[in-house]
Amino acid sequence: MNKAIALLAALFIYHNNVTIEKLKYPYSLPTLDYSYRALSPHIDTKTMTTHVTKHHQKYVDNLNKALESHPELHDQTIDQLLQSVKKHPKPLRQALKNNGGGHYNHSLFWKMMSPQRSEPTGLFLEAIKNSFGSIDQFKKKFSQAALSVFGSGWAWLCLDDKGKPVIITTYNQDSPITDGLIPLLGLDVWEHAYYLKYQNRRPDYITAWWNVVNWPYVQERFDHFSHN
Ligand SMILES: [Fe+2]
Repeated sequence: MNKAIALLAALFIYHNNVTIEKLKYPYSLPTLDYSYRALSPHIDTKTMTTHVTKHHQKYVDNLNKALESHPELHDQTIDQLLQSVKKHPKPLRQALKNNGGGHYNHSLFWKMMSPQRSEPTGLFLEAIKNSFGSIDQFKKKFSQAALSVFGSGWAWLCLDDKGKPVIITTYNQDSPITDGLIPLLGLDVWEHAYYLKYQNRRPDYITAWWNVVNWPYVQERFDHFSHN
């Protein structure tokens, strides 16, 4: 492969990795970068398989169904749909929130995990230290946020409108992007994400999950969105 083609390929991979935001109708299940068993023992094979092929697939199917009769929205990217969700009348608004959010959140979630152990570094690590004191303090606060979600929802590390890292939680499949925040790292704390292995022990799931965080991807998003 000559250098120009290699560069184009690298740019495509980078673009494809970071900009899940630019997905458009008709939506489909993404291909994972690892096998369903790759995150074991932290996230078990059965949970991964069910989570992707049943739960995520259902969000994709229902999102396509909701948009089928709205061709005027087919050219919108998933982030545009989610950012403008409040403008749409019910029941479309609810369908976009639940299923658009479900598709977007999960597409990110698969990327935010990896079987390769990694640690945060560079400017991202500095930003975390500036905002939370240390990486351990950040993990503690993020874990507390994930534990505090009553029922189904997510914990997130996001960039706010000033480019500052903040920890937030969302309920159901509400997405931070609807409130103008850029998600860098998200943790699904719906029971479907952990019940088969951890039953009611959400704290154990959260502790195990830190072992599979894909820090290079989180950092890539930080670098991309803090400069755009
Ligand atoms: Fe989920």
